[in-house]
Amino acid sequence: MAPAHSGRTVGSHTGRQLLSLCELVGLDSGVSAGYARALTDALGPVVRRSLDLPPAAPTFLSDDHTPVEFSLSFSPGAAPSLRVLFEPSSGFGTLAESSRLGLRALHGLARRWGISTEQLDLVQDLFLPDDPQGDFALWITLELTPGGTPRMKAYLNPAAAGPDRAGATVREALRRLGHHRAYDSLPPADRLLLFALDLGDWAAPRLKVYTAHHRLRASAVGALNRMADGPAPAEAEAFLHTAAGLPAGRDGVFDRRPVLACHSFTDPAADRPSGFTLHVPVRDYARDDHEVLGRAERLLPRYGILPDLLRDALGALTPRRLEDGVGLIAYLAMVHQQGHAPRLTAYLSSEAYRVRRPNGRPAGPRPAR
Ligand code: TRP
Repeated sequence: MAPAHSGRTVGSHTGRQLLSLCELVGLDSGVSAGYARALTDALGPVVRRSLDLPPAAPTFLSDDHTPVEFSLSFSPGAAPSLRVLFEPSSGFGTLAESSRLGLRALHGLARRWGISTEQLDLVQDLFLPDDPQGDFALWITLELTPGGTPRMKAYLNPAAAGPDRAGATVREALRRLGHHRAYDSLPPADRLLLFALDLGDWAAPRLKVYTAHHRLRASAVGALNRMADGPAPAEAEAFLHTAAGLPAGRDGVFDRRPVLACHSFTDPAADRPSGFTLHVPVRDYARDDHEVLGRAERLLPRYGILPDLLRDALGALTPRRLEDGVGLIAYLAMVHQQGHAPRLTAYLSSEAYRVRRPNGRPAGPRPAR
């Protein structure tokens, strides 16, 4: 007898989630439909893949290998901004083939909305060589603005020419883009994880370098910031403590998934970053999503943000109970950018393939003196 199929596909699952989130943040339905079509087109053949089959590729974009992740960025006094991160042509052929197709997808999106890819063109050979190495080649984020023309970001792999060349690759990319002193302003890191470019029509397009910090001590987090008017160490620590459920006054070591920092550069003349983001992989430091949501709901009002919408967003993604899994909120991030009020971002998993079971106790960072 033929096996029963659920009929669910990568495209139908993530497309439905996208439309629900668009509706929640108040985007016009015609505009939302356009964004959903764009996502379908750029994802490529994987959209028709049945969720009864295993993931087409073990993409590290998300824990369960869904090639899509959503995020909501909350600024005080403004509507939250919805973004979708995805791996174009995920799982299609070798990394080299998927890199080529991914780039074609990116150019297709750029043409669709008249977005310039000039910045990417200047560094393409560094990150998208003919024989790329590493875990991924190219990811795209679309920031879904109400007007129907998204802002686009490209995420590239510093290890594309080999992990041992990651530093040299990022240094050269920053130099080509005019930021000659940027590399030397980065903090010591265990790994350069991502290199990102804002493409097209941004008020101040950023270059971003994501650094990973293994076994970070909460008390050392302040030293990761390299921007001039960035968060005071006490603020970074307070954010980290609440996000990770670490009691105030107690130090802890993040010995599971590493804390990430993102350093953004906007002014080539400056010798240090103009932005600092702290990404806390909350899914590794909490029992379940109910606990994580509670932490987020304590953090948001501290930044002058109404917390209500986040809970609804989780409900728009899945009907499951928050206590029954962990990882629906993958990261909580605190974003500082010169000239803007600090904002908070929640990265939200699609869970198309799998729900991660709750973690055992104790779930937080390892206690340290
Ligand atoms: N899944 C990867 C990780 O957890 C990469 C990633 C996806 C990521 N979304 C992210 C990293 C958001 C930082 C912020 O590291």
